[in-house]
Amino acid sequence: MKRKLKDGIIAIQDGKGGVYDYAAFFLAELSQLKFKPKVITGQSVPEIIIDGHKVISFASNNVLGLGVDSSVLEKSAKFLKTYGTTCGGSRLVSGNLTIQEELEHKLAEFMNKESCQLFMTGYMANEGVLLALSQRISLLRSRKLDERVVILSDRENHISIVNGCWLAKQVNNADVRFYRHRNMVHLEKLLEKYKDYERKLIVTEGVYSMLGDIAPLDDIVKVAKKHGAFIILDDAHSIGIFGKAGRGTSEKFNITADIDLIIGTFSKAFGGVGGFVVSNKQIVDFLKVQCSTYIFSSALPPSVVGGIEEALLKISNGSHLRKKLWKNVAYVRKMLKKIGYNLLSSHSHILPICIGEESLASTISRDLLEKGIFLPEIRWPAVSKGKSIMRCMVTALHEQKHLDKLIQSLKEIYETRMAPK
Ligand SMILES: Cc1ncc(COP(=O)(O)O)c(C=O)c1O
Repeated sequence: MKRKLKDGIIAIQDGKGGVYDYAAFFLAELSQLKFKPKVITGQSVPEIIIDGHKVISFASNNVLGLGVDSSVLEKSAKFLKTYGTTCGGSRLVSGNLTIQEELEHKLAEFMNKESCQLFMTGYMANEGVLLALSQRISLLRSRKLDERVVILSDRENHISIVNGCWLAKQVNNADVRFYRHRNMVHLEKLLEKYKDYERKLIVTEGVYSMLGDIAPLDDIVKVAKKHGAFIILDDAHSIGIFGKAGRGTSEKFNITADIDLIIGTFSKAFGGVGGFVVSNKQIVDFLKVQCSTYIFSSALPPSVVGGIEEALLKISNGSHLRKKLWKNVAYVRKMLKKIGYNLLSSHSHILPICIGEESLASTISRDLLEKGIFLPEIRWPAVSKGKSIMRCMVTALHEQKHLDKLIQSLKEIYETRMAPK
């Protein structure tokens, strides 16, 4: 049987265990996606080289600039020279170096929590935590726990949370429900529905990664307390940036003690790579022996650990960086709104410029690149179909001339492509 796919490409399958043209199938899928990431030369912010041309990047998560900070680089190089390129394996086997434990210690102290656990990425922390905390077969005691588990996840949560939920459902038979974005009435209704369940896990981002809006954490705490639920906060986009000391949204809301478990990443404000969890000691000790994405994966390499340790110090003393970032963000927000752009309900440094049609977003991104600005469009599946955005990431490293060039370019584009005729 031949199946005609889009753009004239044909996948061949006979349905009887015969020939199946895998290449044709994947090519046809790929042809829907008409997106090829740009190849960047040099560092990540603010000026980068694409196809031999210098452009200003407004797409990097390296928002405080720590990924190119000289003392972060020095510490990273020092750890590389001292300890080599690898920790030698998984933490449970051979990768548990003192430098790993020391970094965990410092992170726990910084976040005002008892214990910390490092992960290779924030993605792996999210998936691993949701799978481990919804566990219904005790790996340690080799028996089935007669406990029902429900995970209640905000509908706009990151894909690593969504996939963690599906894994928990598949592997642990957990119930999974996605509550309407930031909607406490819906969350409470679901908690009421599952009131007899032993474990009720609420999972939310602090700052939502695409829309830049902020979770109503104070209300989530109230609802969770009322219904005996456990709160998991993915604060990937907020730690280092929100709160007086940079501890994230839990500090901003002054509710760190009420959040049961916080997940962070080093790939944003820390300017590196890796993830971590902070919580009380029992929970972290449990995760360290039950979390498959931790147990069955290598430990973070020494160069990363060194860089992150220094970045943490910079974040702790980083009020000047945050001040510069917020000043830049406020300026760009004000000017873009003045031009007429819709920034949705962002209240953070993530500025989602609402475009809508995917083809228009691609055109604008191309126009911008021609004007010397790198700001790729964000399309489905990262956002809903037909709700494309330009996700503008202003950083503390951008200078006034960079911001003015962005604003002038977006102004010209608005006038030619977006302004109502
Ligand atoms: C909200 C959120 N959580 C988790 C992650 C994953 O982080 P990492 O890059 O460390 O895998 C991201 C990354 O984009 C994110 O935006």
